[in-house]
Amino acid sequence: MLIARTIDELQEAKKALSGSIGFVPTMGALHHGHLSLIRQARDENEHLIVSIFVNPTQFLEGEDLDAYPRKDEADIKICELAKVDILFMPSVETMYEKDELCIGAPAVCGYVLEGKMRPGHFDGMLQIVMKLLNLSAASNAYFGKKDAQQLALIIQMVKNYFMDVNIIPCEIVRDDRGLALSSRNVYLKGDENERALCLSHSLKRATKLVMSGTLNVEKIKKEMHTVLQDVDSIEYIAIVDRDFKRLEEVEVGNTIILLAAWVGKPRLIDNLWI
Ligand code: PAF
Repeated sequence: MLIARTIDELQEAKKALSGSIGFVPTMGALHHGHLSLIRQARDENEHLIVSIFVNPTQFLEGEDLDAYPRKDEADIKICELAKVDILFMPSVETMYEKDELCIGAPAVCGYVLEGKMRPGHFDGMLQIVMKLLNLSAASNAYFGKKDAQQLALIIQMVKNYFMDVNIIPCEIVRDDRGLALSSRNVYLKGDENERALCLSHSLKRATKLVMSGTLNVEKIKKEMHTVLQDVDSIEYIAIVDRDFKRLEEVEVGNTIILLAAWVGKPRLIDNLWI
């Protein structure tokens, strides 16, 4: 595995690749969720590039940029074992200039739910994903469904900018108790680990309701609230279609149920695609 830290090193390393390139962008602190993206990309492409870059422009003032878990040594080992061809680990100075041209998230889908709670987050996320997709020249790029709105916006960016890459949505990976894996789960302390489980429990309750014929969004949300009693606060529960438009009734095959809640220090998100 080659580790590239500059654009020149990356371009040089890419010269040795011929055939399809799979790309998995990450912010490091790799867990089994990332590993499942990496494995899928490995299986489906001749070559595999992974990036690790904690992107400052997608963190808001007061968010956990400085404290964001960094585990470079372990991450490098994981990538080696996963047979990554090129691991791209640039510095902030490599990725950004002063006074840059910026990409803005769309006015509607970019400013509801996560976009409303974290204004500016998606602008920074799209800016770095555009750069990374261009640099990797990937045929296929892999993103988890856990960040459902991020995924939808990346798909839209690729469409709107006529970018030549397939975006491959990948299933959410959960621990054996149902907690969706996230690098921020390391912040969960003591009983917060147990309390965080009510996020996935509430989604299970929603599934049961839909399966038994309850499609009314308000009824489902009310039930989810009752299951979410162990979190410290609920930021939102939303039931939207795959374009993030609010629904009154669940449309099976075209619905995402999303929630964000605080449990101790971390803000956790989870979702379910029905
Ligand atoms: O999902 C993430 O880890 C990040 O938002 C991404 C896509 C790597 C961009 O920084």
